[in-house]
Amino acid sequence: MEHLKTGKIISKKRKEMGLTQNQLAGTLNISFQAVSRWENGTAYPDIEMLPRLASALSTTVDALLGYSGVVTDYDRRYDAQSYYWGLTPNSICYEIMKILPPIRPYCVLDIGCGEGKDAVFLARCGYAVTAFDIAEQGIEKGRRLAEHNHVEVNFFRADIFDYCPETQYDIIFSSGVLHFLPPERRGTFVESLKEHTAQAGINALNVFVHKPFIPPAPDLTKEEEKGAPWYSGELFGYYHDWRFHTCKEDIFDCDSGGIPHEHCMDTLIAQKEENGYES
Ligand SMILES: C[S@@+](CC[C@H](N)C(=O)[O-])C[C@H]1O[C@@H](n2cnc3c(N)ncnc32)[C@H](O)[C@@H]1O
Repeated sequence: MEHLKTGKIISKKRKEMGLTQNQLAGTLNISFQAVSRWENGTAYPDIEMLPRLASALSTTVDALLGYSGVVTDYDRRYDAQSYYWGLTPNSICYEIMKILPPIRPYCVLDIGCGEGKDAVFLARCGYAVTAFDIAEQGIEKGRRLAEHNHVEVNFFRADIFDYCPETQYDIIFSSGVLHFLPPERRGTFVESLKEHTAQAGINALNVFVHKPFIPPAPDLTKEEEKGAPWYSGELFGYYHDWRFHTCKEDIFDCDSGGIPHEHCMDTLIAQKEENGYES
């Protein structure tokens, strides 16, 4: 019975990735009959095979075994036909395009991509996009949006708490996510993003900021209640050694959840420059 469940998951993930049984078998250096046996539930992947299989299918071992993992409040919000954040790309995407126009498929990482609207928009513009979020429902919707728009986006589920980029990116983008990181983890996280940015690459980030005169939003998720807004200007300090293109703080109205309220947000678009000058 369990075999069958995992088999169905393998088959579904493989098809979502657009792989044939043969191609998946090739990646794993096994026969396609082995893949076929897993998928029809007559055999089960070896325990040593599971992490490789999960990686080849851009998923987790837990997901392969049918544990859907943590269901977040965002999963619940995203569990609808409509797109919770709409489909209009974040204005930061246009600013990114002015600095690094897609004259070649620059590699983009979208951290906490939600339902994938920005990732898919950037892919449509010609960028090579990788995007992750903790909410499986968001990732699934992102994949459907990419398919609908006939573009490829490498979507996967991951948690910023244990995520470290495996490669260098030209553009690292994140909107409305980094307040989930507690203050003591932000320095190392940002350092890792900076290290994994290619020379002349950019980081385009925005973070919610604490202002004593703005009350907490009325529709905070339980995860957000545990998170912490950043200090005003904190984000900018981490990038003191990069070139700033955009560095601004905005207070704006919002009526998410149906109750009008305000947010304060710091936005930074900074570019990594070679350190060619020694004093
Ligand atoms: C305000 S939404 C922003 C979504 C998207 N960036 C956008 O602008 O449409 C915050 C996103 O952060 C994701 N998130 C929350 N905690 C996370 C974590 N620990 N790791 C990865 N993503 C997380 C949520 O699932 C949600 O999609």
